[in-house]
Amino acid sequence: MTRASKKLIIANWKMNPLDLAHAKDLFIGVKETARTLSKVQTVIAPPFVYLSELSKLFSGHRIALSSQDVFWEKRGSFTGEVSPAMLKDIRVGYSIVGHSERRGLGESDEDVHKKIEAVTKEGITAIVCIGESDRDHTEGTHLAFLTAQIETAFRDVKKSSLSKIVVAYEPIWAIGKSEADAMKPHELHETVLFIKKILASLYGKQAGFKIPIVYGGSVEKNNTAVLLVEGMVDGLLVGHASLSVKEFTEIMRIAQKV
Ligand code: PGA
Repeated sequence: MTRASKKLIIANWKMNPLDLAHAKDLFIGVKETARTLSKVQTVIAPPFVYLSELSKLFSGHRIALSSQDVFWEKRGSFTGEVSPAMLKDIRVGYSIVGHSERRGLGESDEDVHKKIEAVTKEGITAIVCIGESDRDHTEGTHLAFLTAQIETAFRDVKKSSLSKIVVAYEPIWAIGKSEADAMKPHELHETVLFIKKILASLYGKQAGFKIPIVYGGSVEKNNTAVLLVEGMVDGLLVGHASLSVKEFTEIMRIAQKV
């Protein structure tokens, strides 16, 4: 089963920090470590307002920027929205699409689908978030839920776009807690195999298995190694633990070693 050669470690800062000075400090602190790690691709997803300033602070490829959301149209009368072309112009290489917190604010599977098409068309990598709720998890309907989420998101997405897609599996019930509440690695491994099976049914084994899958939901330094190794994922999407240079760079260093 193909796994990406580099671990993808993505920081989702969500609506933090409160000012540009702190955003720069956090980014520079992480960058210093990122440039020393040959086996890790670090990606930072700050709020939109910081993207263009942060894009002036790096030159190499070991660190990259991501938006936390994006709109599907290129330009026009869409008040408050930001297009993939605008992100590309300031060297944003990735875009999170369909995060559960956006879905919670009303984003549909159909919207997610349009966003995937729009960002990949601009050559930006879509980090496509999927994940079941607590209810689906306890009622055992999570596999059917994930299947529907994947099938709608990827409908008509061409094989040629797959090199610009990462799937981020983030069970909603595991988000924003602590390491003890993260998904158990063996359970993650089973779900990852299931997701790969769905992707293979859409694109064939070779192409489907190649799509990198990252895990998110209460990743901290103490569960990094076990999630990566036993969970068999290609990387991690880190929320609260990405707001501390010390904690996040430790996660990156562990990812370099495993
Ligand atoms: P968390 O957030 O690491 O704080 O659980 C992850 C996410 O929502 O992407």
